Amino acid sequence: MFMGVKVGIIGSGLIAQMAHIPGYLEADADIVAVCDIVEERAEEVAKKFNIPNVYTDYKELLSDPEIQAVSICTPNYLHAQMTIDALESSKHVLCEKPMAMNIDEAQRMLQTSRKTGKILMMGFNNRFRGDAQKLKQFIDSGKLGEIYYARVGYMRRRGTPRGWFTVKRESGGGPVIDIGVHIIDLTRYLMGNPKPVSVFATTYKKFPEYHIDGRQTWDSSDVRDGLRDGKLNDVEDLATAMIKFENGATMFVEVSWAANISGDRFYINLCG
Ligand SMILES: NC(=O)c1ccc[n+]([C@@H]2O[C@H](COP(=O)([O-])OP(=O)(O)OC[C@H]3O[C@@H](n4cnc5c(N)ncnc54)[C@H](O)[C@@H]3O)[C@@H](O)[C@H]2O)c1
Repeated sequence: MFMGVKVGIIGSGLIAQMAHIPGYLEADADIVAVCDIVEERAEEVAKKFNIPNVYTDYKELLSDPEIQAVSICTPNYLHAQMTIDALESSKHVLCEKPMAMNIDEAQRMLQTSRKTGKILMMGFNNRFRGDAQKLKQFIDSGKLGEIYYARVGYMRRRGTPRGWFTVKRESGGGPVIDIGVHIIDLTRYLMGNPKPVSVFATTYKKFPEYHIDGRQTWDSSDVRDGLRDGKLNDVEDLATAMIKFENGATMFVEVSWAANISGDRFYINLCG
């Protein structure tokens, strides 16, 4: 599907190296440029994956007319502006989740995609898991009937990431915006994308410092490379919500980076 498509990578940290670049290579896309504000990281990634052009300013990458599509793999607070700039530079965009820091940014991204006619896709990779696809086929065949209730969770016992992930001005929030978006997106996809009409939710912050023991599950590249200590944590660590949809269905959600439970749980229960 991507054969020969000329791609640029903006942000060459962990998810770019673990998922986007290997994925494009497997699909025979042509990765022509990589960008990172940390020049050594971009240089290293370019060398490792044989990418010919390196930039430290994403606007310079966007000005390359050869590039048809970009992956945006930067911290969350950069997603909206970088996506809008890329779409306006006539590039298709695959932007990592979460889409943006707030609804206003997300709407501007969507409007720009419609205005420019360029594709904007979010990195909701869980939709493409084999089990999710199988379940979707099963639901679409009508075997579950009308799905009117979902009880879902993405709960970690000790899994707070470090670096910009716990810094609200850069991440926009904690587990809700980091892993909650995955479980909510996947469940709505399975339910046929019902429109939410109201939400009742609570957030908690009870585990601000435990992660400095090194029991986290994901470090930003800056922490891994020793560029920052990753100790600032001003986001929630657990959240619960009930979402009501226009079609009358409801979803109960629980998400956490840190909770006193016996082990991690990632689950979707659907009632039809
Ligand atoms: N889909 C998933 O399951 C999944 C998993 C992990 C991360 N993510 C998302 O991917 C994104 C990146 O996460 P990560 O773990 O790779 O973080 P990371 O910190 O490892 O990488 C981010 C990179 O962006 C670079 N960067 C920062 N500002 C920049 C700028 N102005 N211009 C260019 N580069 C800049 C950083 O130097 C860093 O190398 C986040 O939005 C995160 O939520 C998604």
